[in-house]
Amino acid sequence: MFYLSETLNGISVVTGPGSFDLANNIAKSLQAELALASVRIFSDGESSMRLGKVRKNCIIVQSTHPPTDRHLMQLLMMTKKCVDDGAQDMCAVIPYLAYARQDRAFLEGEVVSIGLVAKLFETIGIKHIITVDIHSQLAMSYFQSIQNVSSVRMLADYATNMKLHDPIAVSPDTGGDNRAKEFARYLNIDSVSLKKSRHRLTGDVTIDESIDADVSNRDAVLIDDIISSGSSIIKAAQVLRKLGVGKIYAMCAHALLIQDAAEKIKSAGVHDIISTNSVPGEYSKVELSPEIISTLNTRY
Ligand code: R5P
Repeated sequence: MFYLSETLNGISVVTGPGSFDLANNIAKSLQAELALASVRIFSDGESSMRLGKVRKNCIIVQSTHPPTDRHLMQLLMMTKKCVDDGAQDMCAVIPYLAYARQDRAFLEGEVVSIGLVAKLFETIGIKHIITVDIHSQLAMSYFQSIQNVSSVRMLADYATNMKLHDPIAVSPDTGGDNRAKEFARYLNIDSVSLKKSRHRLTGDVTIDESIDADVSNRDAVLIDDIISSGSSIIKAAQVLRKLGVGKIYAMCAHALLIQDAAEKIKSAGVHDIISTNSVPGEYSKVELSPEIISTLNTRY
């Protein structure tokens, strides 16, 4: 273990294609060296990586958003290079931790993939992980040393400047109830959770139209950990619109927004999408680096 404030000369902030801006902001704030891996993709899809010699303490920053397996492999490759260079301590900052949703066998015979991811990290020598809004406590339990940064306060801070009319925080499912309540507490507003179900084989989402709040003419902030296909937000927006809601906003930690999800969400009547920069992109408006640095400070 090293002490962040005393060892900045001995730290490399190592990054690859998954999180360049975030890593750069972390390195700048720490006044630490940024070690950028250069990556070529071969015709068969393999990554080939080059990285200069790193220092003895490495903070490896790489979100594992799509292309998920490629970013995961690149994270392992960066770690391997740090090990080969003789790094003594490696902490991985993985804002979007892929496979966290596969935290149990939902269907008979299903592999619990997050357990495998945890094993890979441990085997290669990652001593500690910092992630953001991990999908579940169960997913966290597979890791020996992990800290989860909540983005809820950061998203709520952003929302204070959104000029909302009589707002209500809405979780698309009961699993996100605590998130919506916490978000609402920061803003001193109401919250409600919708009742969502997802077909385990087809992935189809349905949301119950009866909800436990009056949303008519109120602006609704849909808050979720991940927006992936957009189905959850779209179905939630459809229900809210039927109930005469005002403007709808969608906020999340990880805006994966697969294919044309953002366009579909906007067509469903969502005014804007706001996420952290866990996944770089057009909607990544909330900067994670200050919170990640204070978390690094609690460890080192
Ligand atoms: C599910 O439990 C999560 O909290 C998200 O609601 C879900 O992952 C979003 O996925 P999609 O955008 O594909 O509906």
